[in-house]
Amino acid sequence: MTESTTIRWDQDETGVVTLTLDDPHQSANTMNQAFKDSVAAVADRAEAERDTIRGIIVTSAKKTFFAGGDLKEMIRLRPGDAGLAFEAGTAIKRALRRIETLGKPVVAAINGAALGGGYEIALACHHRIALDAPGSRIGLPEVTLGLLPAGGGVTRTVRLMGITDALLKVLLQGTQYTPRRALENGLVHEVAATPEEMLARARAFIDAHPESRQPWDVKGYKIPGGTPASPRFAANLPAFPANLRKQLGGAPYPAPRNILAAAVEGSQVDFETAQTIEARYFAELVTGQTAKNMIQAFFFDLQAVNSGAGRPRGVESRPVRRVAVLGAGMMGAGIAYACAKAGIEVVLKDVSAEAAARGKGYAEKLLAKAVARGRTTEADRDALLARITPTADPAGLAGCDAVIEAVFEDPALKHKVFQEIQGIVAPDALLCSNTSTLPITLLAEGVARPADFIGLHFFSPVDKMPLVEIIKGERTGDEALARAFDLVRQIRKTPIVVNDSRGFFTSRVIGQFINEGVALVGEGVEPASVEQAAAQAGYPAKVLSLMDELTLTLPRKIRDETRRAVEEAGGSWPEHPADAVIDRMVDEFGRPGRGGGGGFYEYAEDGTRLRLWPGLRTHFAREGAEVPFEDMKERMLFAEALDSVRCLEEGVLTSVADANIGSIMGIGFPAWTGGVLQYINGYEGGPAGFTARAHELAERYGERFRPPALLVAKAERGETFHD
Ligand code: NAI
Repeated sequence: MTESTTIRWDQDETGVVTLTLDDPHQSANTMNQAFKDSVAAVADRAEAERDTIRGIIVTSAKKTFFAGGDLKEMIRLRPGDAGLAFEAGTAIKRALRRIETLGKPVVAAINGAALGGGYEIALACHHRIALDAPGSRIGLPEVTLGLLPAGGGVTRTVRLMGITDALLKVLLQGTQYTPRRALENGLVHEVAATPEEMLARARAFIDAHPESRQPWDVKGYKIPGGTPASPRFAANLPAFPANLRKQLGGAPYPAPRNILAAAVEGSQVDFETAQTIEARYFAELVTGQTAKNMIQAFFFDLQAVNSGAGRPRGVESRPVRRVAVLGAGMMGAGIAYACAKAGIEVVLKDVSAEAAARGKGYAEKLLAKAVARGRTTEADRDALLARITPTADPAGLAGCDAVIEAVFEDPALKHKVFQEIQGIVAPDALLCSNTSTLPITLLAEGVARPADFIGLHFFSPVDKMPLVEIIKGERTGDEALARAFDLVRQIRKTPIVVNDSRGFFTSRVIGQFINEGVALVGEGVEPASVEQAAAQAGYPAKVLSLMDELTLTLPRKIRDETRRAVEEAGGSWPEHPADAVIDRMVDEFGRPGRGGGGGFYEYAEDGTRLRLWPGLRTHFAREGAEVPFEDMKERMLFAEALDSVRCLEEGVLTSVADANIGSIMGIGFPAWTGGVLQYINGYEGGPAGFTARAHELAERYGERFRPPALLVAKAERGETFHD
């Protein structure tokens, strides 16, 4: 018998055993070797001492219940390691199964987050009670890392709630539920308000169910909702893969497909065989490239970004208490809401009291919806709204320790509003602009303290978009950068830090994606195919419809201004084949986009998108060779990846993690790639394979695909992009 080192065994005089997960060497419990050995040891002991045991409570001494699998270990697995990956989970699954089938009641007292492996441990228990702890989350988010829950998660959720609910509520989206919502959706049986109540209820369950078993271990158990073996279910079965394909738009995500297969196949066989099927599909995923990409981005890169790698060290943090938001339009209103939600007092200023009040109205609307859906309480809504003070009077900004400006995109106006408030806000207030295109260095010229001036680029809609791009101007000081970083974290968003440059990182790189889509139209490619290529590459947005949303005139204006600036500085500005298409759309056909009555699409009076404008097919007729579908997809992906390398080369980007996270969270670069630079790492043949393909695209479609020197050097040295 091995000894249990990470699970404490305490048996009281009534025969109730409390198993406390408590890794002595780590701040959280993870699925490491010591833990695997401990579960086996606990199963041995439970079987040996079975007659003295009345029931078992599983809980944890850490803040979280259990943190999950060892991702560092997983990311190292190669395609040849599938056998190893298959075997890895077998021992622990067998041990959990032995405890589950001991014939004694087993209760999970979930004291904190139970995601992935943590919830799988809870699923192996007969009864699950979650503590209503703030921030606690329950679910199986493996799919968001390109994986599936292989600790019995697929097998047990299918048996617990039926194939359809298991797929839709738990497995395919990887939803993370609060304890209350986990209860509503059948993931747990009870929610307790205090740890004492949780443990008392666990004991009550044991008292009431001396011979508890899992429902699926009772003879004659049927999976709720049926299985493919029943004719009614079988009739609906083909709809599953079809819906999945529709949802994914043909993008290359293998995890949902494997999850579906594991759930359906596993429902038709006995429990043990189902676990084997689950393990086989997992092994295929964990040794593949997509899971590696997603783990790299969502776990390691996101952690690096959030932990403050880009924040200057040694600057003391001081939370913002009162922020001035200048401009209560679409962005200002969203920013005000996000700040108030994080507990910051907001003074929301616009030119008139009515305009400012309208901005606050946006928060009111969002909160009304949240109350209706039970996501917030009326008291919390009132408290949040009370923190937003709309005003037209600059005097109201007294005492603000940070300013976020979001007035019209006009440098003279932006200078003017900063002039107006400089003497009113706190003398050392942090000064931020939410400009999406104007150079921060230029805007800083208009303020008395340029060292305190910085770009804070939010994305629309602010309440939903998790990223904020922080832009350092030439004169921005370290103190301002650190404070801006802290402010973004304070409002619970993810910061990336870039240096000032036209379009910064995000707008510049997404522009390459859009230009590529537009260029394809110019080459006479069927517009619907262009949209389809973007979807199949994994982009969440249709490229031509995105262009219409932005309006064609805005990028044109930026393009012309940039060209002028570059040429004035003695440089040359390369033509892009999209330029001519945009010019013709605006000048010749009068189609500047959605707001202007139509662009690549036609719209109804109320703005609903109707169909692609038929004129595209007549005015941009195909000449010359066909563009293969694969080339269309790769042209979009490569255009963004190559420009990101240039951003790194030029020092606009200073970290690979920022590029990967910024591209996925800010501008919809496909998540399966792990981000713009990880896409190059993971491309077949790595950076060398990517470089060779870029040369090929350059020969066929133009010099914009020629790989930059930094990429060529990496490829030659056999290096990947990493920090
Ligand atoms: P908007 O047009 O919705 O709002 C601008 C607001 O500023 C209006 O309410 C206007 O009354 C107000 N304003 C004008 N002069 C003012 C003054 N002197 N004092 C106070 N308020 C004044 O514009 P939106 O879309 O909110 O954009 C604002 C800024 O955010 C722009 O710089 C824009 O480039 C940037 N941005 C926009 C994004 C977008 O998706 N719309 C994304 C990221 C940044």
